[in-house]
Amino acid sequence: MIYFLDTADVAAIARLSDLYPVAGVTTNPTLIAREKRPFSDILKDIRAVIGDGAMLHVQVTGKDADTMVAEARKLADFVGAGFHPKVPVTAEGIKAIRRLSGLGFHVTATAIVTAQQALMAAVAGAAFTAPYVNRLDMIGGDGVKVVADIVHLFRVHALPTRLLTASFKNVQQVHDIAMAGAHSATLPPDILEALIRHPLTDSGVAGFAADWAAAYGEGSTTL
Ligand code: E4P
Repeated sequence: MIYFLDTADVAAIARLSDLYPVAGVTTNPTLIAREKRPFSDILKDIRAVIGDGAMLHVQVTGKDADTMVAEARKLADFVGAGFHPKVPVTAEGIKAIRRLSGLGFHVTATAIVTAQQALMAAVAGAAFTAPYVNRLDMIGGDGVKVVADIVHLFRVHALPTRLLTASFKNVQQVHDIAMAGAHSATLPPDILEALIRHPLTDSGVAGFAADWAAAYGEGSTTL
């Protein structure tokens, strides 16, 4: 399983990438806008924290393919190695995905809500497809089923495109897509932390610490 952080909050990225095996960062226009500071400063700071070459997925904002391609080319110079342009799966987006893939970009097709959109993006040359799990669940859809269908389609059609599952609001959704065979997920900081948090683990560790301290002294370790 490959985990990404889905945020533009540099402090959170610094804290969590020190704790967890995070492969990179994904952002979208909403996450960037939330930071209320220049776009280029945010990207520069994220790159400084995750290091050269770590994956950084940045979404284009243009509505037509020409603008999306131009944005991706400019961002590539700025973001450097590990840059993945995120392109939404509109008709113009699919056109941009084809062109960018032809130019050698590793494109992430985003805002996916159906398996057929993912298949189309894969055929157009996308390296990653990002289905939105929670946004579907919130309107009575089944985000995990869509992910499972994409896993199946990519397997039976022998497509090299990977799944970068996105839009999560709870641990159960992450568990379910991992069980369905998705191999990567981009998670908000609170969901990444929640993946390992459990009150029984906390009380167990507290009990071990108390027993050790009673026998060998407060603050002592095996050192
Ligand atoms: C992924 O590409 C998006 O940034 C993101 O996961 C969307 O998540 P949201 O539904 O929580 O906004």
